Amino acid sequence: DEKVTISKGLEGIFIADTTLCKIDGTNGKLWYRGYPIEVLADKSNYEEVAFLLLYGHLPNRHEMDVFDARLKDEREVSSEIKEIIKMYSGKAHPNDVLRTCVSALSTYDDDMSDRSKEANLERAVKLIAKLPTIIAMIGRTMRGKGFVEPDRSLSHSSNFLYMLTGKRPDKESAKLIDLMFILHAEHGSNASTFSTLVTGSTLADTYSAVVAGIATLRGPLHGGADEAALNMMKAIGEPDNTEKYIEDALAGKQRIMGFGHRVYKAYDPRAKVVYKYLQSFMKTTTDPQIEKLLEIAIRAEKLMEEKLSKTKGIWPNIDFFSGPLYTAMDIPSDLFTPIFAASRMAGWTAHLFEYWENNRLFRPLDNYVGKLDVEYVPIDKRQ
Ligand code: CMC
Repeated sequence: DEKVTISKGLEGIFIADTTLCKIDGTNGKLWYRGYPIEVLADKSNYEEVAFLLLYGHLPNRHEMDVFDARLKDEREVSSEIKEIIKMYSGKAHPNDVLRTCVSALSTYDDDMSDRSKEANLERAVKLIAKLPTIIAMIGRTMRGKGFVEPDRSLSHSSNFLYMLTGKRPDKESAKLIDLMFILHAEHGSNASTFSTLVTGSTLADTYSAVVAGIATLRGPLHGGADEAALNMMKAIGEPDNTEKYIEDALAGKQRIMGFGHRVYKAYDPRAKVVYKYLQSFMKTTTDPQIEKLLEIAIRAEKLMEEKLSKTKGIWPNIDFFSGPLYTAMDIPSDLFTPIFAASRMAGWTAHLFEYWENNRLFRPLDNYVGKLDVEYVPIDKRQ
């Protein structure tokens, strides 16, 4: 018998060369196309980052204007998509409704057989432009509110917040939501990007591939972690309950959502950025509910650092501090995963198109450990 080595969860396996993103998990560093994430978070905006990921360089003024106008042109969704939103919102998790809508978007593609780079980039623009509209409409329908149509005078992420809340965001909220879009835009060959690539590697179309990405993002080990982390903070309820809750959870071998990462064995640099912005935001907020959530988050982080970070390398990831921040922006927790999908659409499509330049079908192996040559017993003679 052949001796095989299994890499559970494909840990440590490289699947492709890429120029999109570098993660230094030992030192907790991250670059998009060579630009440090902290610099992009402070100085850039989501439109620019999406362009950078898709086209490989930061846009000049003209390129930015054209790209921005294309995104704005594509924000609207058809009446059929609105019908799907009305039909399913509230009956399933918003990420499931989003997945269904994105799947339906493929029916508007005039020529699916056109697999040129230009046609695919157009598809990426449409997907990036439409997802925030769909998500805002799902969020409003679930709460019994009417749709708010997109506003061209607002940026990509500000327009999302406007379509969701019905209010034009102030400067601070506009920066925070854009920050979250930037920080979630790309992250190497994570599970959802990988499944996008697996689907794409069969030479399936762009829509099929990103629907696989949206589906993969759904679980609490990946895109659902921030929602789960916030639910934990809410279950803790009072800051003074924090330490006991965490200790009991760890004693019961439970995972603390928003902690740990396959690649980072240091503080997730995105979590550091979120924490920094959150702290300055907290100085201006007077909302006692937000203050409570943040105190719980800080106390939980401190305890986890003593218990797990230094000994086991389990540090906070981006999802730990996202919940209080989104809550402060009036975003309900069931929309966290869809928002992640909306921003990651840039990373998914950029990876997909890069992979297609040198495509090879993904076809790993599994190690069969069952029986062989089993006798076939007719149905009436079986036990
Ligand atoms: N809380 C408590 N213990 C943990 C945690 C956690 N959040 N994460 C890992 N561990 C422990 C785990 O129990 C195991 O311990 P032992 O060796 O004693 O059995 C050890 O650390 C290694 O865990 P693992 O499951 O082999 O690690 P992994 O690389 O497969 O898991 C992970 C990575 C992200 C799935 C995991 O850390 C986790 O479940 N975290 C919580 C979910 C989460 O926050 N996910 C978001 C990730 S970042 C954003 C994104 O990409 O979506």
